[in-house]
Amino acid sequence: MTVWFATSNPHKQQELAAILHGHSVKIPSEVGIAFAPEENGVTFIDNVLIKAKALYRLVHAPVIADDSGLCVDALNGRPGVHSARYGSEHSVNLSSEERNALLLKELAKNPLRTARFVCAMSLMLSEDRFFIVQETLEGELCWTASGTGGFGYDPILYLPSMSRTVAELSEVEKNLISHRGKAGRAIRQILETLALP
Ligand code: IMP
Repeated sequence: MTVWFATSNPHKQQELAAILHGHSVKIPSEVGIAFAPEENGVTFIDNVLIKAKALYRLVHAPVIADDSGLCVDALNGRPGVHSARYGSEHSVNLSSEERNALLLKELAKNPLRTARFVCAMSLMLSEDRFFIVQETLEGELCWTASGTGGFGYDPILYLPSMSRTVAELSEVEKNLISHRGKAGRAIRQILETLALP
């Protein structure tokens, strides 16, 4: 079946298409729809529903939306839903390296290092009928960034079970254990259970 994905990012589209193999994934920009709803929710699930509803109202067809971020226990769950904008208040645009350095500096020598990537994902079939999953990838913030793979906070999240940071994993390894991979596969199962036309 064809599902719409509430993103403007073609990389995310490819990633989801690989997870939902056998289904076609379309994004709004492909058909000239400008899509940038205000993601002002307090939780990942709030933002997922904001994005899913905004796109559903435009396409009136099944929509998948996601929202993700890094939650650090010592920072009471921050940056959380603000992960993409962390450190960029006052219109300063930080690179990923600068953002990671800032986060490690904020954490300083705090021995409580536990943190996790979180991904909420929804499948919306109508404004009143939707399924939501939320998955995590648990790790610990390292003392210095390491690794060149992935993106964003990957170089600073260390996975004790793999003795590597997320940025030191291959793309295949990351997809098998990641918050987004697990959420996407759960959504695929829901899609297949529904056996929509
Ligand atoms: P969004 O889900 O596209 O809004 O992304 C939120 C932000 O969370 C990204 O810009 C990254 O900063 C961070 N993030 C989400 N998932 C990951 C990941 O797998 N690796 C590294 N950073 C991530």
